[in-house]
Amino acid sequence: MDKLVIEGGTPLSGTIRIHGAKNAALPILAASLLAEEPVAIRNVPRLLDIEVMLDILRELGCKARYDNDNRSVAVDSTMAGSSHIPEFLMRQMRSSVFLTGPLLARFGEVQLYQPGGCAIGERKIDLHLRGLAALGADIQEKGSRIVCRAPELRGTEVILDFPSVGATENIMMAAVKAKGRTVIVGAAREPEIQDLQNFLNRMGARVRGAGTDTIQIDGVESLHGGEYEIIPDRIVTGTVMVAAAATRGEVSIEGTQPAHLTSLIHVLRRAGVQIEIGNDIMKVGAYARPKAVERVVTSPYPAFPTDLQAQLMVMLALSEGVSLIKETVFEGRFKHVDELCRMGADIRVDLNNAFIRGVPELYGTSVEATDLRAGAALVIAGLAAQGRTVVEQVHHIDRGYDRIEEMFARLGGQIIRETNEREIVHQAR
Ligand code: EPZ
Repeated sequence: MDKLVIEGGTPLSGTIRIHGAKNAALPILAASLLAEEPVAIRNVPRLLDIEVMLDILRELGCKARYDNDNRSVAVDSTMAGSSHIPEFLMRQMRSSVFLTGPLLARFGEVQLYQPGGCAIGERKIDLHLRGLAALGADIQEKGSRIVCRAPELRGTEVILDFPSVGATENIMMAAVKAKGRTVIVGAAREPEIQDLQNFLNRMGARVRGAGTDTIQIDGVESLHGGEYEIIPDRIVTGTVMVAAAATRGEVSIEGTQPAHLTSLIHVLRRAGVQIEIGNDIMKVGAYARPKAVERVVTSPYPAFPTDLQAQLMVMLALSEGVSLIKETVFEGRFKHVDELCRMGADIRVDLNNAFIRGVPELYGTSVEATDLRAGAALVIAGLAAQGRTVVEQVHHIDRGYDRIEEMFARLGGQIIRETNEREIVHQAR
């Protein structure tokens, strides 16, 4: 397994451009199943999760090609014939659940499996299934196997008692060809949902309201092909911003949408970080030890994103004073705390509260990534710490960051990837 070796203590500096958003690309790739002609999607990040999604589309009979040079994907789903999402792929990537809505809309039937929990929580899909049932799907659950059948989907009002991102997206995709109007009340408001709406409408759908808590979809007969460009990844952008603050550096970030990061910008400024905002560029500078931030609560967009909670905790672990982070979205998203404490952080967890008493230094050691964003947080900790940090289980990080070591090395970070030669030889046999 690869590992990242980091010599900490160098303030990050320079300019970086951010790749496309994983959490926009995944539902949009799933939605390509709805098009009756080929689609071309640009600014698709080169990530493990994207590779898995492309493998699933191929498994379903689509032609899907990733062009490394210009980070674009061509999907031709005209020959798709299967509506069975293989269990091993569902378990490999929970986001395969995004295929349920499009497959139901296209084939009238889909067989999938409970994706199972992960390091950050149980990750149920009951809101997805309840929404599809409201549109007329018959849902049969037999153990972990789920069969959804819907000879015809009919528009209706769907009320979400939690603004689930995935459930909102699945219902949107199922409703674009349903008979009549669907209104999703209590919808998630993330920018990635607006991106999905824009992609669907580019293909001839009639969706409006994404970005608000009420989304309206008027069913259409068919969707044609087209081209689309994915928005920049706001979580990768936020990860770089926090890394610049934690290492007391000065970094310019291009190709991003500052409006997607209002809550993070507000918290970083409260910590004394300087942030200059341009149209699609931000300059982040930290020239003194960050100040503690009394209380940060993660919550659905536009509040502080749970996907930046672990990264912010690293900066607060080095700040002056005591901070509290309350995690309200996932029940198990503090797995990075133990590893940070092994690096000298002073953090105490009580249920979904983390009390962080800032320390002047962190110290490098060997740590293990448990999930995508916890892994990114440990890389930031290594960049800010004194001495050498080795981050293991790097495959978690590769799910959401396109060569994270190259991104930070370009900003002056002393970080390299070590690939286990023995393993490569073994794989080559
Ligand atoms: C999306 O996951 C993102 N993933 C997550 O990013 C992100 O953390 C999350 O939204 C919240 O913003 C993708 O977009 C691919 P949810 P999703 O449904 O859709 C509960 C990352 O790091 N819930 O909004 O799974 C659930 O258990 C990943 O890039 C139900 O109870 O998130 C969780 O506690 C991690 N029943 C909460 O809602 C359901 O049917 C939020 O889940 C669905 C969700």
